[in-house]
Amino acid sequence: AGVFTYDPGFTSTAACESAITFIDGDEGVLLHRGYPIDQLAAKSHYLEVCYLLLYGDLPSAAELEDFENRVTQHTMIHEQMHNFFRGFRRDAHPMATMVGVVGAMSAFYHDSTDINDAWQREVASIRLIAKMPTIAAMAYKYSIGQPFVYPRNDLDYASNFLRMCFSVPAEDYVVDPILSRAMDRIFTLHADHEQNASTSTVRLASSSGANPFACIAAGIACLWGPAHGGANQACLEMLNEIGTVDRIPEYIARAKDKDDPFRLMGFGHRVYKNFDPRATVMKESADEVLDLLGVENNPILQVAKELEKQALADPYFAEKKLFPNVDFYSGIILEAMGFPTSMFTPIFALSRTVGWISQWKEQLSDPALKIGRPRQLYTGETQRDYVDVENR
Ligand code: CMC
Repeated sequence: AGVFTYDPGFTSTAACESAITFIDGDEGVLLHRGYPIDQLAAKSHYLEVCYLLLYGDLPSAAELEDFENRVTQHTMIHEQMHNFFRGFRRDAHPMATMVGVVGAMSAFYHDSTDINDAWQREVASIRLIAKMPTIAAMAYKYSIGQPFVYPRNDLDYASNFLRMCFSVPAEDYVVDPILSRAMDRIFTLHADHEQNASTSTVRLASSSGANPFACIAAGIACLWGPAHGGANQACLEMLNEIGTVDRIPEYIARAKDKDDPFRLMGFGHRVYKNFDPRATVMKESADEVLDLLGVENNPILQVAKELEKQALADPYFAEKKLFPNVDFYSGIILEAMGFPTSMFTPIFALSRTVGWISQWKEQLSDPALKIGRPRQLYTGETQRDYVDVENR
């Protein structure tokens, strides 16, 4: 028998080399291709960050325009995919719909599934980045029984998404620039995060040679869980459950109680142990959006503000280095914008698609690429002889 290193949860095992994203969790540093996330959030925008992640450098003005045009050309989805959406139950979770629809893209776009063809890899990347907002918005529209809204290519990426979610045939949704900027920031701050669970899932799926749409569908499935991308929905549901400011101490006490499995959702991070640099920027955005839309009438947002204050002042959270993470604030913004909680994780998925795709491309060009095949420490029975059913 071989001797293996046992590392449950991969807390100390590097599974790949990567030149895309750097994180120093102790210092709260997050760099994409060397650029700090706070600079990108303040000065750049999502599609430019997509280019940076995909191709390694910031684009020139001409390169950016060309990239934006290429993405824009691909925002519509195959008309026949509408029927595919209609096969789902209306009350399906939009993440369930997205796992299915994105997986089905390999059936609709099989001319970009050959991973050995550089041109097809490129087209698949652009298609995924371009179509994800359309798919997420359609999953939402379907779930609330409204007609699908086609993309409008004269709008920027974030405004187009908001319009596809909130327009109805009788009234075109006019996007406030503050909201479109906040939406773009949510996309930007979620764009990539090195070898998190869903990205590792995409890499593992891809290591067998699976096609890009299948790999991204696997990433979406992994992202769904409440310890990962599902935390933003779980966080808002928790705020709803708390309901009123006077009940906050009860929930903080539960989070500290070792015999209670309850955790404060939207708090803590595997890698960031001092602060989450994305949360710092997201908090600024949340304040801007709340100023614009007002919290006075929204008890949930009042609970969020007060919970943040009380948890940060509590020694338990300080000692364990638990701070609000990016999803605490993104959930607040999305709630204020009018998204139902079931749309929070789909929005994370559409934002993270570029990270998944960039890492997928990087992995395929890695000469050290091998199929991912973890080993195990076997803890079961030793060999024993089969016993016929009548003798058991
Ligand atoms: N509330 C209360 N206690 C907590 C929390 C929390 N949110 N998070 C961690 N702890 C405690 C935990 O009980 C443990 O205590 P002890 O050492 O006494 O046993 C200690 O802090 C360390 O926790 P851990 O589970 O060993 O840490 P981890 O690195 O495995 O988990 C985490 C990281 C994010 C899964 C966890 O903090 C958590 O469950 N947070 C809530 C869910 C959440 O917000 N997830 C989103 C992460 S950010 C978005 C993304 O990248 O997906």
